[in-house]
Amino acid sequence: MAQKTASKKAPITSPLADQDREITGKVLQGTLLDMIDLHLVAKQAHWNVVGRLFHDVHLHLDELVTTARGFADDVAERAAAIGISPDGRASTVADGSGVPKFDSNWRSDREVVQAITNTLAELNRRLRERIDETDKTDLVTQDLLIGIARELEKSHWMWQAQLAE
Ligand SMILES: [Fe+2]
Repeated sequence: MAQKTASKKAPITSPLADQDREITGKVLQGTLLDMIDLHLVAKQAHWNVVGRLFHDVHLHLDELVTTARGFADDVAERAAAIGISPDGRASTVADGSGVPKFDSNWRSDREVVQAITNTLAELNRRLRERIDETDKTDLVTQDLLIGIARELEKSHWMWQAQLAE
């Protein structure tokens, strides 16, 4: 009977030493929450944008939804590959996402473009911190984060460019 109560061995092994796995796992989990919430906020904006630029912004938002969903999957699966169970539940996202609050109800096209630009700036700031954090723990994860930052910094530029007078 004693054996049944013994702690279960983790089903997924890790290529990383324990401490590196823990630090890298936290970085990936944090990025997962940001990417899931980015996808949700981009959809919220996609449905609620109004104004003269409705069509362009509505379509541009769906591109961001697809990008964010793809990255969420990439970071969750990287976490699994290093032996960390990814947690993408709604309650976990609500508690831990770094996406700035996006107000409900109809939003003007300019308000939406500003909010998405700000959101991408904040998420990119968090990504660059995580790129630094993984420098000594896992270069493979760092490479993944660099690829995400490259894409989201490009996206930030494309959203910000719409605000120019
Ligand atoms: Fe749609």
